[in-house]
Amino acid sequence: MGQKLEIDVNGKKHQLDADPETSLLEALREDLGMTGTKYGCGESRCGACTVLVDGVPTHSCVTTIADVKGAKVQTIESLEKNGTLHPVQEAFLETGAFQCGYCVSGMVMTAVGLLKSNPHPTEAQIVEYMSGNVCRCGAYPRIVEAIQKAAQSGGK
Ligand code: FES
Ligand code: FES
Repeated sequence: MGQKLEIDVNGKKHQLDADPETSLLEALREDLGMTGTKYGCGESRCGACTVLVDGVPTHSCVTTIADVKGAKVQTIESLEKNGTLHPVQEAFLETGAFQCGYCVSGMVMTAVGLLKSNPHPTEAQIVEYMSGNVCRCGAYPRIVEAIQKAAQSGGK
């Protein structure tokens, strides 16, 4: 049975008429039309669905809308401001840190979360922090390079 539940996404409050157990991923994509967050495995094994919840990278496929009540959810749609990409997005583009692009949204959000908590990570810290994000195309070296580049440009 649906019930009214409010979630805060990218600084805007949305009233959802939905089962509280609905996944955040489904609510974002189906109810709010924010399709930048991707569905990969659906079971917390790939990271394609990563969003920030109060600044912390979170797999939205296994997070319910009830779980984020009162929290601030941030999706990839929030990063570009007035036509200017976020430094992490810019660095991914400049470095060519993707092939098919499917993992990129989740990778970028996790990287943004990393640089918020640790603006100057070592390579080992990047690899460790990004370990929940899978790239089927094996673009890992360039992804690490992109995050280092974003860190150098002060990107968070
Ligand atoms: S779709 Fe959520 S971790 Fe894979
Ligand atoms: S670029 Fe294809 S999955 Fe990462």
